Amino acid sequence: MAELKRVYLDNAATSWPKPESVYRAVDEYQRHLGCSPGRSVYRDASRADQTVADARHRVARLWDAEDPQHLIFTFNGSDALNLAIRGALRPGDHAVTTAADHNSVLRPLRFLEDAQGVRVTRVPCDAAGHVRIDAFAQALLPKTRLVAVNHASNVTGTLQDVPRLVEIVRRQAPDALFLVDAAQSLGHLPLSVREWGVDLAAAPGHKGLLGPMGTGVLYIRPGVEERIAPLRLGGTGSQSDEDRQPAILPDKYEPGNHNASGLAGLAAGTAWLEERTPAALRSHELTLIAALLEGLRGIPGLTLYGPDDPLERVGVVSFRLESFDPHELAGLLDLRFGIQVRSGIHCAPRMHAAIGTLELGGTVRISTGPFNTLEDVEYVAAALRELSRAP
Ligand SMILES: Cc1ncc(COP(=O)(O)O)c(C=O)c1O
Repeated sequence: MAELKRVYLDNAATSWPKPESVYRAVDEYQRHLGCSPGRSVYRDASRADQTVADARHRVARLWDAEDPQHLIFTFNGSDALNLAIRGALRPGDHAVTTAADHNSVLRPLRFLEDAQGVRVTRVPCDAAGHVRIDAFAQALLPKTRLVAVNHASNVTGTLQDVPRLVEIVRRQAPDALFLVDAAQSLGHLPLSVREWGVDLAAAPGHKGLLGPMGTGVLYIRPGVEERIAPLRLGGTGSQSDEDRQPAILPDKYEPGNHNASGLAGLAAGTAWLEERTPAALRSHELTLIAALLEGLRGIPGLTLYGPDDPLERVGVVSFRLESFDPHELAGLLDLRFGIQVRSGIHCAPRMHAAIGTLELGGTVRISTGPFNTLEDVEYVAAALRELSRAP
């Protein structure tokens, strides 16, 4: 049997392929540089330092952050969210999150609720995955300490109106820190933490930023670091005569050796994005979403979830096909067509509850990346049409 071509449509899990320059940067670091950044004065150590600084500057520029030192490198998106959430909340605090949020937000909050008596209000979403604004406003208390909101759903692709939510929080919960989870949007569309006006923003480096796995970032608005306790402590190569963790950023939150070859790849991925421009990548993504929605609509027995308007979503499209279990369908897409997608609950149980698929075993999710083509999305629509006829 001829080998099937591989059609990767699981970019919401991690992006693949990466730009060639990312593979080259990781290889170059591992093979030729190899040393520890931020520790020594020899020339290669300075080059290693510069590699990490370059990654930091590029991500800061892409995200329009005030100061690159306020971008903290973490090991994935979950790690960044844990730092923000567990660093901000104290026993008895009140926090607000939404049904659109991922377990990387929901589980740290549930843990703090169980272990430290943190009170958590979870705001529902409508059937298209939009946070219910009236319920959001009602959830806020004058003493709320943290509001954690997903920007783009990893189930339905739904984009939330972050500036509008920030405005409501500033009015009703003036002491609250606003954390946005941009795991599915950073790198996919032009974003500005300053225009959003948020305090904290987290993202993986291995999804839209096109870096390797083992990378993530947390933006901390200048001044907000005074309210975020570090979770990991240790050597930084700075103020080494002191046994107290340095207060300066990023050292306060970055003890131990970095994933330096990963960050070399992240710098290359971000450079690639800067060159292509997020606006042009968004336009390509919108073309793919429109074609995908068009191709899937009208397939007998297929139910689509999330907003109808491509402008209200990222390239994450969930659906169910009548008489198929999502895992079975994803397995068939792979076996018969070489199409790689993710099925199930996608670590977002409350969003599945909102769209009515939690009890049904979830959905099948197609998620596009910058290297996907119109041909890919037409191919997946044709494959599903065929399966709908002959299960
Ligand atoms: C919305 C959302 N938040 C957070 C994460 C966690 O990212 P990571 O897998 O890098 O920890 C994901 C990963 O799928 C996600 O989709």
